[in-house]
Amino acid sequence: YPSIVNAPSLFNCDFRDLPAQLDELVGAGVDFFHIDLMDGHYVPNLAFPTKFVSELKKAYPNCTADVHLMVSEPERYIPILAEYGADYVSFHADSTRFARRLITEIQRHGMKAGVVINPSQPMDVVSPYISALDYVVLMTVEPGFAGQRFLSGSLERLEALNALRMETENQPLIEIDGGIDYSSAEACVRRGADILVTGVFVTFEQREGTAAAVRRFASTL
Ligand code: DX5
Ligand code: ZN
Repeated sequence: YPSIVNAPSLFNCDFRDLPAQLDELVGAGVDFFHIDLMDGHYVPNLAFPTKFVSELKKAYPNCTADVHLMVSEPERYIPILAEYGADYVSFHADSTRFARRLITEIQRHGMKAGVVINPSQPMDVVSPYISALDYVVLMTVEPGFAGQRFLSGSLERLEALNALRMETENQPLIEIDGGIDYSSAEACVRRGADILVTGVFVTFEQREGTAAAVRRFASTL
């Protein structure tokens, strides 16, 4: 894969100032956005209305909207996400009994399908259907909250997932979600990660400014 994708998580934005931050990210060259949808049931938190996807796509038609479903019945949201222009949609392996059908359903709607593996799940939970996937998301924190520490053991888990993926013909992409900073990013890229969900670059605590942070991130990989 020619380049590593920096996928800022919009959950980490300062919501008082969202449009300005999105403009700044796009201005800095970001074209891939990670959007966390939480239903207060699968995870103990709430995030983003589905309509936000259509607003993002209207404002930046060339961007890729990567939707991370942290919901209990992911099947229910596929038609509306397709209508709103989502490009990538991932669901948690344990949030459905019919992963195969859901993957087909996402792809039938013209979107890329991904499955998310939690820190408590073995890598081979995706083995039965990895060859049907466009991407696999490896959680490196427990889902539901931003700003958590990258869990120990995650790099070994990524190595195992990368080995699994290498055995497939389609070679799904690997996305890493949670606690990515400069050093964990570098370690993940060396072990086969293709897409990195980044939080710190869109939070208002960062001092150097969004554009500079995006550039520095790109240059360290
Ligand atoms: C956690 C979310 C992540 C989160 C990443 O449930 O899936 O996308 O916003 O934030 P950081 O990078 O702060 O871990
Ligand atoms: Zn996420």
